[in-house]
Amino acid sequence: MCGIVGAVAERNVQGILLEGLKRLEYRGYDSAGMTVRSPQGQLQRQRALGKVAALEERLAAEPLPGHSGIAHTRWATHGRPSEQNAHPHQSGERLAVVHNGIIENHEALRRELEGEGYVFTSETDTEVIAHLLERESRRVGDLLTAVQGVLAHLDGAYALGVIHADEPDVVIGARKGSPLVVGVGIDEAFLASDPLALLQVTDRFVYLQEGDAVRLSRGGVIKVVDADGYAVEREVQTFEHGDGAASKGDYRHFMLKEIHEQPAVIAAALEGRLGERSVLVESFGPDAEALFGQVKQIHIVACGTSYHAGMVARYWLERYTGVPVQVEVASEYRYRQVVVPEGTLFVTLSQSGETADTLAALRFARARGYLASLAICNVPGSSLVRESDLTLMTQAGPEIGVASTKAFTTQLTALMLLTLALGRVRGLDAGEQATLVEALRGLPGLVARVLELDPAIEALGTAFAEKHHALFLGRGAHFPIALEGALKLKEISYIHAEAYPAGELKHGPLALVDSEMPVISVAPNDELLDKLKSNLQEVRARGGELFVFADEQVGLAEEEGVHVLHLPHVHEALAPILYTVPLQLLSYHVAVLKGTDVDQPRNLAKSVTVE
Ligand code: AGP
Repeated sequence: MCGIVGAVAERNVQGILLEGLKRLEYRGYDSAGMTVRSPQGQLQRQRALGKVAALEERLAAEPLPGHSGIAHTRWATHGRPSEQNAHPHQSGERLAVVHNGIIENHEALRRELEGEGYVFTSETDTEVIAHLLERESRRVGDLLTAVQGVLAHLDGAYALGVIHADEPDVVIGARKGSPLVVGVGIDEAFLASDPLALLQVTDRFVYLQEGDAVRLSRGGVIKVVDADGYAVEREVQTFEHGDGAASKGDYRHFMLKEIHEQPAVIAAALEGRLGERSVLVESFGPDAEALFGQVKQIHIVACGTSYHAGMVARYWLERYTGVPVQVEVASEYRYRQVVVPEGTLFVTLSQSGETADTLAALRFARARGYLASLAICNVPGSSLVRESDLTLMTQAGPEIGVASTKAFTTQLTALMLLTLALGRVRGLDAGEQATLVEALRGLPGLVARVLELDPAIEALGTAFAEKHHALFLGRGAHFPIALEGALKLKEISYIHAEAYPAGELKHGPLALVDSEMPVISVAPNDELLDKLKSNLQEVRARGGELFVFADEQVGLAEEEGVHVLHLPHVHEALAPILYTVPLQLLSYHVAVLKGTDVDQPRNLAKSVTVE
């Protein structure tokens, strides 16, 4: 949802800002822009419609030399994608601002400012911030104080970067509801929406807290003030994942690289969390054991792919712990009159930890008497992590492709750890715990074997390239896997896809089935297999072409109109994790065949920090 970069350095900052934008392009890519203060004290701006490459071309023709600057890659909320609406936005010639988030009271502020003679040149909500800052900085004379003053008038979510021609080599940042980190260099300082943007210049970061504002100045001087205006020290943390995450390596797309990283990241998600025969409950924090003993209900809240992970977890948690579980999308949950029975654990799932609806749901839940909140998240230092009582990091490493892959399978791995930790505290049979722990140890190896099917899955993909619709079927914990498969196909290939629990087919969707509707199903060796086979017969009898990913032991054979790919046998509980992988690969290859932008599909952004 828009990416921000800022820099103050001895060297020219254009290259740092541009590289930062390229690394943030996953957050939005409909237009991009940059403003640098020239050594002569002028603000110079370049903006371009489209991807960062378009801005790069402009900068090659007309570079922006200088030691301080801000830059932005946009995902449109207010105002269509256009050069005029691209950031940075200026008030006059002396002040420029970049913004990620939404200003909810922008219409009233715009009317007020227009009444005072300010002329607006864009349709964005951001431009009100530029004019408010211009007015305030004239009044108070100092940019950091002006930013603090203006923040009090803004409703909504924001991360900001600001420069002023009259303050040489200074960049101001601020955040509330949208992420912003400070990169700590050697005599240099940087700002960005995500540490990834700055890994080429530093691996040390300060994660700003809600309401913080920061002043970066020459010599790497960083001054942070909190929401109440007091100067505060914030811890400098070292980024642990290395810079490899920011490059595609030998892979054609980030998505393919991230799919192939799954054996390694699932192993990382398990590392240090498995005892010999059970899960180490302390993985969830020192208070977890006492707390898990009091859990009587669980509410899981998340969005998109993370929501699908929550749906799978419901099957696991109810089966192995006997605790009733409710799963809901965050955008619905946060506006409902939720009934919270005593002893309910509130669980959020999020790759980014910054998804606006999930974060709002957590804040909404706080006042509703939950036993505690647990965040299962991939980004340390994210808002969700900071604001939850317990956390479990999924250890997937940075995920760049907009379509979530390794983040999902590590979420599932973490949710199985939660199931077994809760199960342990609540007396789950020791033998059953040991069997599942052993199965988890073997999971990375099985995922690696599924990845070897890649060429066969690529060949299957050719059958989809000309299709306009597809149906995904699954039963039990594999219904959410079917939903996830359909979401992947939709978002990167733009083929309309729907998912159903296979038993629901005859209640309506069967009417859609004909030779033009490919039907994809996952068929692990579980207690619902025979029922699933009957459902697949119903499809075949109507001329539907079937694509089945089946356990090697279930005896499903290829025949006319039925394509079968066999997966290695896996413990039934872990099958949802394994069966996700071929669906990811299928969507990937169909998208490549269709020639879509796999890593940055149209209209989407990686981190949805607006409502
Ligand atoms: C899935 O491929 C999407 N990237 C999207 O559904 C995503 O899972 C959703 O926006 C939630 O994001 P989060 O996990 O960062 O909260």
